[in-house]
Amino acid sequence: MERMQTYWLALSLLLVCAEASKILVVFPLPSRSHGNLGDGIVRHLLNAGHEVTYITPFVYKNAPPNLRTIDVSSNFDVWPAHLITIKSIIEDPDAFANMNMMAFLVTTIMNHTYENEAVAALLNDSKEHFDAVIVEWIFNEAIGGIATIFDCPLIWMSSVEVHWKLLSLIDQPSNPAYSVDMTSSNQPPLSFTERVSELWTQIQMSVLSYFIFDKMQDETYQKYVVPAITKRGRDAPSFYEMKYNASLILANAYVSTAIPQTMPQSHKYIGGYHVDEVVKPLPEDLKKLIESSKDGVIYFSMGSNLKSKDLPEEIRVSLLKMFGTLKQTVLWKFEANMTDLPRNVHILEWAPQQAILSHPKLAVFITHGGLLSTIESVHFGIPIIGIPVLADQHMNIKKAVRNGFALKVDLSYTMADQLKKAIIEVTSNSKYAQKAKELSYIHHDRPVKPGVELVHWVNHVIKTRGAPHLRSPALHVPFYQKMYLDLAAVLVILFLAGRLLLKKAYAAVFSKSKANKKKTH
Ligand SMILES: *[C@@H]1O[C@H](CO)[C@@H](O)[C@H](O)[C@H]1NC(C)=O
Ligand SMILES: *[C@@H]1O[C@H](CO)[C@@H](O)[C@H](O)[C@H]1NC(C)=O
Ligand SMILES: *[C@@H]1O[C@H](CO)[C@@H](O)[C@H](O)[C@H]1NC(C)=O
Ligand SMILES: *[C@@H]1O[C@H](CO)[C@@H](O)[C@H](O)[C@H]1NC(C)=O
Repeated sequence: MERMQTYWLALSLLLVCAEASKILVVFPLPSRSHGNLGDGIVRHLLNAGHEVTYITPFVYKNAPPNLRTIDVSSNFDVWPAHLITIKSIIEDPDAFANMNMMAFLVTTIMNHTYENEAVAALLNDSKEHFDAVIVEWIFNEAIGGIATIFDCPLIWMSSVEVHWKLLSLIDQPSNPAYSVDMTSSNQPPLSFTERVSELWTQIQMSVLSYFIFDKMQDETYQKYVVPAITKRGRDAPSFYEMKYNASLILANAYVSTAIPQTMPQSHKYIGGYHVDEVVKPLPEDLKKLIESSKDGVIYFSMGSNLKSKDLPEEIRVSLLKMFGTLKQTVLWKFEANMTDLPRNVHILEWAPQQAILSHPKLAVFITHGGLLSTIESVHFGIPIIGIPVLADQHMNIKKAVRNGFALKVDLSYTMADQLKKAIIEVTSNSKYAQKAKELSYIHHDRPVKPGVELVHWVNHVIKTRGAPHLRSPALHVPFYQKMYLDLAAVLVILFLAGRLLLKKAYAAVFSKSKANKKKTH
């Protein structure tokens, strides 16, 4: 009997080992929501029995034995969190709308990641080996060089909605006539000026990329990646070869929240994978509070990066006063203590967001419109009121409004009145909740859960050594060929040559007939 057990144990271990691959997951951005996305990938890979190495600036809670973490918390030193606050953005809304600044900031972080001693030691160690590397794409491809060092397939993970710049890495930029940039708040169908503006964004950013960011990244690549490859006795490919060599893009998006674009085969939607399969139960006191509320609950959170405590005092006071006039219970994620709380308002220093969103008493979620919060509200079928602040939040909220389950309120010193109107509208008109439930159905009605899909495609890439059969042929077709500029050139030449020939022939015939005329005279 005991022998039998040992036998089964050995067999199952063997099976697990046969399936287990060594995967490196790289999420170096010191921002909690990006960390949550990395954690989600790691969780699914570990559950599938893989051996994971995880480069992260955060502590991974309850790490199992098949996970090794590499600490890049030093990246916090170069992240100007103190600059990106609600107050600074109200005062200068365009400060962070500038993608070039974002790209520069991210490049600094990538440099810092390569310089981290633990990372450098890992990349330097020629005994280290991985079957695949999964890297978060965020305006930076030089970090993908890690896969080139280990000579294994590269998988990009995109934390934002699918957009042209991302797709250009595995296929070609999407058409600006009906797709928009990640920071744009336009939504198709586009008007004439919107189409021109999207085209202009693509041209402008492509030119900047080519002349500035690619050069800068190439320097990072030459400095940190090439020596590690040479040390392993191989010739390093160029930065551009590496940049366009990814096997797959896993996108944190799905048609429930995204524009249904035409997608290349090596792009896979896994939006929603980060949500826990079984939502952790609410803490007892919070559960009691929510269940005792007669008129439902309003949950207000500006996310993990933008802290409510940085709200200017006048906004805090006016919001508090306004919340006090509502009949619902208000849960406000606020990272400091408040003394002047109305009876129906409760402060949560830390909020178990998924558990709150899953509770049937929840009436509306007031959010900054980060992609994770937007996806979670669709996952749980909750209507939202969006107060977008920066980056892709404007686009997420605009889409949610268009999808019919959200209202938007502008961030301003006098937003309390507008917010109250929005709360009354969303909680009294059932069409918002109804629409949220419909989208939730679309979000969940897939052949397999996004986490299963994620593991499936990572395994597929590993087993087929980079899945070259998924690769788009468009990657190897130069721009002039896609646009048939060569054909245009041939046609122009033919036309000119034809015209010249006709002219000559005409001249010849004409002069002959003239000559003949002269003769007859
Ligand atoms: C990596 O290897 C290079 C060359 O062998 C060496 O100069 C460098 O100090 C090593 N770095 C680390 C962090 O081990
Ligand atoms: C990143 O490092 C490379 C190589 O040292 C350098 O050329 C580039 O200017 C750095 N970029 C930033 C933003 O620090
Ligand atoms: C708020 O007050 C509680 C109890 O007095 C204390 O434990 C907590 O640390 C305080 N939090 C902040 C952010 O000051
Ligand atoms: C491209 O990726 C494949 C694996 O997917 C790898 O074998 C190959 O060496 C890579 N090529 C370059 C130029 O990085």
